[in-house]
Amino acid sequence: MNNKYALITGGSRGIGKAIAIKLASELHYNILLNYAANDVAAKETQVLVEAENVSCTLLKFDVANTEQTSQILKEWMEEHSEAKVEVIVNNAGITRDGLFMWMKPDDWNSVINTSLQGFYNVTQPLLKDMLTSRFGRIINIVSLSGVKGNAGQVNYSAAKGAVIAATKALAQEIGKRNVTVNAVAPGFIKSDLTADFDEKELKKQIPLNRFGEAEEVAELVAFLASKKASYITGEVININGGLYS
Ligand SMILES: NC(=O)c1ccc[n+]([C@@H]2O[C@H](COP(=O)([O-])OP(=O)(O)OC[C@H]3O[C@@H](n4cnc5c(N)ncnc54)[C@H](OP(=O)(O)O)[C@@H]3O)[C@@H](O)[C@H]2O)c1
Repeated sequence: MNNKYALITGGSRGIGKAIAIKLASELHYNILLNYAANDVAAKETQVLVEAENVSCTLLKFDVANTEQTSQILKEWMEEHSEAKVEVIVNNAGITRDGLFMWMKPDDWNSVINTSLQGFYNVTQPLLKDMLTSRFGRIINIVSLSGVKGNAGQVNYSAAKGAVIAATKALAQEIGKRNVTVNAVAPGFIKSDLTADFDEKELKKQIPLNRFGEAEEVAELVAFLASKKASYITGEVININGGLYS
């Protein structure tokens, strides 16, 4: 019986959805699909994942909520003591853009808490089992904004930049146990997050002259999650059509 699992946060839509399907189809992982609110989208993704002949369990929780996240993960682990969560993809993220001068505390806190606190809340409870098994892949979806900083996104740049630093630090702590930690930094990718962006105008800045597809990010994540990437850790890999390197 296949008892290997990959947990994808924010897996109901966009990049997370593409990653869930890819890890199911290419690496045959059972999927733990986290999401915040959109039950309809989560169920649609569940059907697509299950079509790859693996299981897909929906775990609805807010990654920014430490208690809720810990309780749901703990319950699931207790009920599935035979399961091994080999891959964690910290993908859940939000933007609340605006100039820093006018930024409300809630716009600052919600963005930081979803990306940075979410990384802690999800990864920390699952780490011990990875270390004991001496195998694991932690992949953090960050952003170009966290690499170069982006005006109008001081909160989002800070959140993603902090996750990049955490990626590098954690990679050094746990490399000896054969658990790798990497970050993937997308540029403009087609999703609900970028649906209102003016692609026609913005693509002029992108050498490949288009926005990326969620599936293209999923290809990179599947590589990092695979045995093929066994000597890569502490890296931040850009996927942005040449926009920045
Ligand atoms: N699209 C881009 O151009 C781009 C570029 C760089 C980086 N990124 C990063 O890539 C990741 C995915 O982005 P996307 O474009 O796919 O976004 P998206 O289409 O807006 O999807 C966001 C996903 O995250 C979930 N989510 C949001 N807040 C959550 C929370 N507190 N707890 C649990 N789940 C939560 C949503 O769940 P519900 O469906 O329940 O709302 C949804 O599944 C994010 O971290 C984003 O910062 C995206």
